[in-house]
Amino acid sequence: MGLRGIDTLGSLEGLVVGVRLDLNTPLKDGEITDDGRVHAALPTLRELAARGAKMVVMSHLGRPDGKPDEKYSLAAVAKRLQELWSGSVKAVSQVSGAEVQSALSEVAAGDIVLVENLRFDARETSKDTEERRAFAEELAAPLDCVVSDGFGVVHRPQASVVELVEAKPSSAGLLIEAEVKVLEALRSNPERPYTVVLGGSKVSDKLGVIDALLPVVDKLVIGGGMVFTLLQAQGHATGSSLLEADQIETVKGYLSRASELGVDIVLPTDIVMAESFAADAPSTVLPIDQLESGPAGKNAIGLDIGPDSAQHFAEIIASSRTVFWNGPMGVFEFDAFAHGTRAVAAALTEVAGLSVVGGGDSAAAVRRLGFDDDQFGHISTGGGASLEFLEGKTLPGLKVLGW
Ligand code: 3PG
Repeated sequence: MGLRGIDTLGSLEGLVVGVRLDLNTPLKDGEITDDGRVHAALPTLRELAARGAKMVVMSHLGRPDGKPDEKYSLAAVAKRLQELWSGSVKAVSQVSGAEVQSALSEVAAGDIVLVENLRFDARETSKDTEERRAFAEELAAPLDCVVSDGFGVVHRPQASVVELVEAKPSSAGLLIEAEVKVLEALRSNPERPYTVVLGGSKVSDKLGVIDALLPVVDKLVIGGGMVFTLLQAQGHATGSSLLEADQIETVKGYLSRASELGVDIVLPTDIVMAESFAADAPSTVLPIDQLESGPAGKNAIGLDIGPDSAQHFAEIIASSRTVFWNGPMGVFEFDAFAHGTRAVAAALTEVAGLSVVGGGDSAAAVRRLGFDDDQFGHISTGGGASLEFLEGKTLPGLKVLGW
């Protein structure tokens, strides 16, 4: 079965459409630092406006504790959305209830009512189906139908992702359709050579995808904080770099399975070892078998892949026909340790076939480093969601949409 699209909802003229988006954007001092998810939501909102609907937009932001917490308010998102939207965006301070109803009576077709962070109500993420269903019914009360378009959250079995979609006539939005189309192409029929590049801090977050992708990819390139667990599994000392010691044995298993399958797991050959975790920390580039030989010795922390590794990774990426990349190669937020991530991003822009940047951190990294979205085949808005999709898992938020 395929996803139900907006057309399946029939005429939307004069209707109130609930739109579940993923507007979970990074904030610093109350300001959005990467508005990619807000931009990604616009095509569906425009489509619904063109069809004459009023929209109740819903999203989570961060992980508040099931109760209102100003730190996780959608206020900054409301401000950004209003800057980008031609109609009115009315932000209400509640998640559901009378305030939403009254805001709806004040807006016209093509306008948006943005409710507060869905996770301010503990029932959104409850493990109890009945609690989630009761919350979804409250959310659904003012709506005629629901368009689900928060791709970044489709792997979460949460009230607004599943039970809300079941409570009313519903469809996928344009973002979910676009994401599924690209990721399905990666999953079913990638043009070869197919390279997957993984980074980020935790190897434990990536074990599922490594397991699923080993039989599928030609090369698996690994950098970022997670790489130190792999280097330790190969017997290298890694100073005070990130380490998940409890994963070393599992990782050893993957390394030997990769060699049985003939898959090349490409690891860095050099690392930028810093004397502390700071933007201006003195650092030394060291080969992987001598990572504790710099001035900081065992206290050194690996904060980026080294220049030889960056060049080698870039060559592999640029000569592949399909590349999926998830996770930065180093602490790209510090300019001095952004080189590896920048080199990987630049190489992706040279891929002759399909290049896909997966997820929050990598998407934020490419924008922060000055790349344009259209330099890549696709920038996914889903971090965990895109990884779980590639792992072949059933995603609850897609299943309810007919996928
Ligand atoms: C994300 O940023 O990956 C999504 O918004 C999901 O957020 P969560 O991991 O807090 O459920």
